[in-house]
Amino acid sequence: KYQVIIDCDPGIDDCLALLLALKSPEIEILGITTVSGNVPAALGAQNALKLLNFAHKLNIPVYRGSEFPLKRDYVSAQDTHGMDGLGESGIPQVTSVSPQAIDAVSFIKQTLTANSNVTVIAIGPLTNLAKSMKQNPTEWKHCRDLISMGGTFKSPGNCSPVAEYNYWCDPDAADYVFHHSLVPIKMVGLDVTRKIVLTPNILEYIRQKEPRTGNFITAITRFYFDFHWRQEKVIGCVINDPLAVAYLLDSTLCQGFSAYTTVETNGKAIGQTIIDSQNFWQRPVNSFILTKVDTQRFMHIFLQRLIGAADP
Ligand code: BDR
Ligand code: CA
Repeated sequence: KYQVIIDCDPGIDDCLALLLALKSPEIEILGITTVSGNVPAALGAQNALKLLNFAHKLNIPVYRGSEFPLKRDYVSAQDTHGMDGLGESGIPQVTSVSPQAIDAVSFIKQTLTANSNVTVIAIGPLTNLAKSMKQNPTEWKHCRDLISMGGTFKSPGNCSPVAEYNYWCDPDAADYVFHHSLVPIKMVGLDVTRKIVLTPNILEYIRQKEPRTGNFITAITRFYFDFHWRQEKVIGCVINDPLAVAYLLDSTLCQGFSAYTTVETNGKAIGQTIIDSQNFWQRPVNSFILTKVDTQRFMHIFLQRLIGAADP
């Protein structure tokens, strides 16, 4: 089994990623840590609890993380995810369980100390991870794999012409993690995640096959569907984060290449991933950049796991 920490900012697509992980027997979630991104970290922790409650998995601990990026002012993505971060779905607050007393960075340290084979899936800004690597660099030798949804190689950005949100939100953290991780970062960027679209047809299929899950996903994605139509005239919504989980389950889903990557921390291109695919700089490889994804096979895995059926 993969022993996994999921660091996230739930977030609509974060919830879908969490659901996929919860429904995958190969994955043991040791803890869910939140970071300010789509919504502030404390609200994200409440949303993680809502998702765990829906999945009947409130036994999994949730830890609140960094409230602010390392250096920059914090800019949320509530225009995309709704003020509540869950598409203004009105899902009631969980009152029976609270987030844990210790914070995300302490939990990450504890976990890396106690386990020798941890996989970290980061689907929000990298603030918690950067702080942890700064404070406890040697513990990170127990991280066997680090998968990060963020950045982009050839695809345009989603919050500037060149930058993807998670790295744009805290570029200093992203750059720190690329340079201090002891394992190359598997970068699940917009080149691949933009291809993953939840369409009304697929959603209706989920609702017909498994109304409880279908109604939950419909409730949290309605706002997201409207946003995509308004912004991009796309029917359906791009769901970025679940691909990071699916890639752990099956690495043959995506193709990519190894390279040195740095993140721009200043100026107009702030948050941009500069990926030295031609090896101009001859710096050590610190990333594996995903460029291609088998979208059909992703959807097959996603639906199999969520509702036990997969042929809409
Ligand atoms: C990423 O930013 C967030 O809005 C999503 O949850 C995803 O992690 C996509 O750029
Ligand atoms: Ca996210």
